[in-house]
Amino acid sequence: MKAMVLTGHGGLDKYVWHEDWPRPEPSPMEALIRVGACGLNNTDVNTRSGWYSKTVSEATTGGAYASVADDDPTWGGAPITFPRIQGADAVGEVVAVGEGADPALIGKRVMTNGWCRDWSDPENMKKAKYFGSEVDGGFAEYTKTDIRDMAVVTSDLSDAELATFSCSYSTAEGMLSRAQVTAQDTVLVPGASGGVGGALVQLAKLRGARVIAMASDAKHGDVSRLGPDRILPRAPDDLRAALGDENVTVVADVVGGPYWPMLIDILERGGRYTCSGAIAGPMVTLDLRTLYLRDLTFTGSTVIPLHVFGDLVSYIERGDIQPVLAATYPLRDLREAQQAFIDKRHVGNIVVIP
Ligand SMILES: NC(=O)c1ccc[n+]([C@@H]2O[C@H](COP(=O)([O-])OP(=O)(O)OC[C@H]3O[C@@H](n4cnc5c(N)ncnc54)[C@H](OP(=O)(O)O)[C@@H]3O)[C@@H](O)[C@H]2O)c1
Repeated sequence: MKAMVLTGHGGLDKYVWHEDWPRPEPSPMEALIRVGACGLNNTDVNTRSGWYSKTVSEATTGGAYASVADDDPTWGGAPITFPRIQGADAVGEVVAVGEGADPALIGKRVMTNGWCRDWSDPENMKKAKYFGSEVDGGFAEYTKTDIRDMAVVTSDLSDAELATFSCSYSTAEGMLSRAQVTAQDTVLVPGASGGVGGALVQLAKLRGARVIAMASDAKHGDVSRLGPDRILPRAPDDLRAALGDENVTVVADVVGGPYWPMLIDILERGGRYTCSGAIAGPMVTLDLRTLYLRDLTFTGSTVIPLHVFGDLVSYIERGDIQPVLAATYPLRDLREAQQAFIDKRHVGNIVVIP
């Protein structure tokens, strides 16, 4: 089959295109999926470049890091093995099933859940693997996954549109769940023009919260279509003044970096900070007095509760959330697609088509 294969940590040259890569065979309880589209995410960039390594402390650049070796831990704290097929957001048609899986799934259109559970102990976060990281994902003509780590989706959306959702929106919904966001909250979303940020805007609105997006000025038109109540620049000099009399109760952040202390400083007493990423840099300065004197709660969010993916599929099927499909590329042009993604030329998600 055709596949874009990652051969180690490093630059984009670590991707090697194959047209004769072995097609996977579905094991018991697995489905073989003919991939129609697969979304790009920063987890692909970070795993490829080695950004998850503790030796790296800078913003995501997408380039190779000299300090990273192939046995460096990735997101989960352990190294992954190469060759590896990345791609967390596969959408396609089931063409075969393994022993024990319902043959009625054949012919159905499915969307993969990035989280691959140990189904003998599915709630155990320590046993969760990520699709396209610890196991092969969707940057290929065919992929396979446990039938409990995917969902049949009934929707008029195209495969490419559906492939924008899984990673970004599950991550965003996981953050909002962990921070217990409700209609009583005002949520500030840095990086609202990105995949997770745009999802945070839509999903926080769905919960009835007031949402204030932050994005580069050139992207405000596109971000406004996601429905935030207000949009601020990417990094106002005086965030408190820019907010006026807004009472921000939640900051939902995937940006971090040098601006981070400003985000914490404007949180109301009793406010919550929830974080799933640090694209502008993982090392930040925290004044502990702000944390404790202001009664703040910080929640990290990566391995999300089991129900989140099912909730997401329901939102899609009801039309409660809209895809933000920025561009599609042929799979064999994945390197160009990922460079465009790193350069932030687009608002929303980029998808490759095998
Ligand atoms: N924990 C998890 O499970 C999980 C899952 C998904 C993603 N993530 C992480 O979340 C972060 C964001 O992911 P994403 O897919 O939303 O990213 P994205 O689509 O690339 O968007 C990131 C946004 O951040 C803004 N930004 C502000 N400062 C930036 C800087 N210094 N460099 C780059 N962008 C900057 C950009 O918006 P403006 O140009 O408008 O400012 C950009 O649109 C990444 O670190 C990713 O690894 C984590």
